[in-house]
Amino acid sequence: MEKLLNLISGKVSAAFAAAGYEPAYGKVTVSNRPDLCEYQCNGALPAAKLYRKAPIQIASDAAAKLEGDAAFSEVKAVAPGFLNLRLAPAFLAEYLEQTRTAPRFGLEPDPKAGTVVVDYGGANVAKPLHIGHLRAAIIGESVKRIQRFFGAETIGDVHLGDWGLQMGLVIAAVQERQPELCYFDEGFTGPYPEEAPFTISDLEEIYPAASARSKVDEEFARRAHDATFELQQGRPGYYALWRHIMEVSKADLKKNYDKLGVHFESWLGESDAQPYIPDMLRDMDAKGILVESEGAKVIEVQEPSDTKEVPPCIIVKSDGATLYATTDLATIRQRMETWAPNKILYVVDKRQSLHFEQVFRSARKAGLVKPETELRHIGFGTMNGKDGKPFKTRSGGVMRLETLISDITDFVRAKVQENNLVTGEDVEDTTAKIALAALKYGDLMNAPTKDYIFDLDRFAAFEGNTGPYILYTIVRIKSILARYGAWEALPMQAPETPEAKDLMLALTRLPEALELACRDCAPNLICAYIYELAGFANKFYHETRILTEEDPEKQRGYIALIGLTKRVLETCIDLLGFEAPEKM
Ligand code: ARG
Repeated sequence: MEKLLNLISGKVSAAFAAAGYEPAYGKVTVSNRPDLCEYQCNGALPAAKLYRKAPIQIASDAAAKLEGDAAFSEVKAVAPGFLNLRLAPAFLAEYLEQTRTAPRFGLEPDPKAGTVVVDYGGANVAKPLHIGHLRAAIIGESVKRIQRFFGAETIGDVHLGDWGLQMGLVIAAVQERQPELCYFDEGFTGPYPEEAPFTISDLEEIYPAASARSKVDEEFARRAHDATFELQQGRPGYYALWRHIMEVSKADLKKNYDKLGVHFESWLGESDAQPYIPDMLRDMDAKGILVESEGAKVIEVQEPSDTKEVPPCIIVKSDGATLYATTDLATIRQRMETWAPNKILYVVDKRQSLHFEQVFRSARKAGLVKPETELRHIGFGTMNGKDGKPFKTRSGGVMRLETLISDITDFVRAKVQENNLVTGEDVEDTTAKIALAALKYGDLMNAPTKDYIFDLDRFAAFEGNTGPYILYTIVRIKSILARYGAWEALPMQAPETPEAKDLMLALTRLPEALELACRDCAPNLICAYIYELAGFANKFYHETRILTEEDPEKQRGYIALIGLTKRVLETCIDLLGFEAPEKM
């Protein structure tokens, strides 16, 4: 469906052309003076220079050609040469009736969207999920849903950190605690037990202790390093133990991601990229892009146009070990072979931007992707506490995601109960939905790259620019619709009040908001849009007697309007990754 702005730009451009001017001057924008008009065209001002005429003359000429156009209720040339426009109510209703009845509000999927991989997990196995991974999960889930809305086949890949030193630390620690286990017996011929020798709570205790100890106990650190190396060489007992760590950790991670409404289509990890490394290195060598540097093998990625130094990407260290970058490159190879994506989007802390710059450039030099394959790092900022420093627990430690979620949930539950929003069985469902909206909207309303301050009081408030405010708006509409009865088939009607018209005009701006959010991977644009839309919806609600309206025809128009508003809001919050409760 043609965007409303394009539609009226087309009309105004045609009017410019009919009056003898370049049609390009007829471009229309949303008015920045809503008190004066709804849309404006400023083209007469630059045109004046070219045609050596007073801008007001040009604007008047164009205005004259628009006379009688049923799309406008007002076309006014005003000094010094603006064209102020208002839409005809019937035209607006007709346009929104198409929006209402078209699939996906008339937003067409991109036929060339293809497959898009979104890498937005990055959780490290054996370590508890902490809030550093929260932003990746929240932003990534939304980015993925937006891509999918526009027709992409999306694959969210959790890309677990499952191949590093943390594995060796756990193995060394378990070996010390239970040396009698068969995993450490080199003569053992199998099969290894099905059941893991530890639970998730054991792991949660083992890893931090081992990590702390490795910093002060050199001998232990060396054993952990050796275990990591032997694991990577494929020692059977260690590998069997590693699989247990994986199973136990994954089950726990899934549970936590589920609570966040975050779902991955692929549960691969860094370990799954390892088999791709030998071939990749051979090809890189054959291409002659691997350069020796102090015993290491690197790819030079500096480009002449760079204004700053971009250091070479280290692929193999002098001791033969491969690195984080090697794994990311091999993962690109794996993804291209398995899914042949058009795009790979990485939702990862912005402090890793140099890493990704090096990896992307190396991938292109190595021919791992097609020239047209898009590789993009969506770097996000830090979630800070009220002191402006990275968010910590009260005792100054790293906050676990589980703790954060349960803190928010308790806070919201108390509010729900205190205000008697719902009772009985509904309390938990409503609480969970409001808590998730508070957390996610509080994050997503900021541009991803921005740092922001986590402020529970503010995020969970029912008023202001918050998730709960958006939910409240939806729930209020749902309750009116429920009391009205069947509303789904009612057609849009011409607005009779300024509040109705404002709400309708806001509804027409949905396509721009969603398209920009998709193009820029910027869910914050959807937040800004629904905050504005919810504001107009609430104004309309306050100024209009909907359920007590006596004229049934008029009432049907009101109901159709809030029905469409509800559907748009619900679609948008689904793209953000949360949903509204039935009551609140
Ligand atoms: N596991 C890494 C970390 O915790 C993040 C991984 C991000 N994704 C990637 N493809 N490098 O820092």
